[in-house]
Amino acid sequence: MSLRIGDTAPDFTIPTTKGEISFHDFIGDSWVFFFSHPADFTPVCTTEMGRTAQLSDEFAKRNVKPIGLSTDTVEEHMKWIADVDDTQNTVLEFPIIADPDLKVAQSYEMIHPGESETAAVRSVFIISPNKKIRLTMTYPMSVGRNFDEILRVIDSLQTGDAHGIATPADWRPGERVIIPPTVTNEEATAKFPQGFEEIRPYLRYTEVK
Ligand code: BEZ
Repeated sequence: MSLRIGDTAPDFTIPTTKGEISFHDFIGDSWVFFFSHPADFTPVCTTEMGRTAQLSDEFAKRNVKPIGLSTDTVEEHMKWIADVDDTQNTVLEFPIIADPDLKVAQSYEMIHPGESETAAVRSVFIISPNKKIRLTMTYPMSVGRNFDEILRVIDSLQTGDAHGIATPADWRPGERVIIPPTVTNEEATAKFPQGFEEIRPYLRYTEVK
């Protein structure tokens, strides 16, 4: 049974580089960027771990906790983190899950046998404080993720939750947003006193702060 947007993120208890964690307790009142990578001591993964660490202030600003996963052990992760810090000029503080038995990787469908029977592909789950899966993305092993996009979708989800809006293609924070078709013009007038532009009855833009 595949995990879908709107599902509750499955809970689990597992060793990490920051000690054993129970996932729902770890989420707490935060958003979570949960991502898998194929293996420690590999080049693309090293750059992704470094980038996540370099963006720690950006994640914290958005109340997001990053957490990684691979099917390596805690001991391997710890040795590799020293390399990541050294080569990517950063200090990696977020936890990395050790899942050598594939327990979590299987339950989150991070193992795609067409790529590997034992290593995870590059899955992304954005999870909100109510433990719901809000976004999923899956990259093949050979493609490093775009972290601008990861921050952008978090900004879109959080802006959508705060204002009841949707965001257009290639939206960036500060740009115009879209009033969903489920909101009538009468409701939109009350909800968005700043006004809105109607291009078509189904395509209406407004601005939110
Ligand atoms: C990497 O992180 O460089 C990588 C890992 C597995 C397959 C391909 C690339």
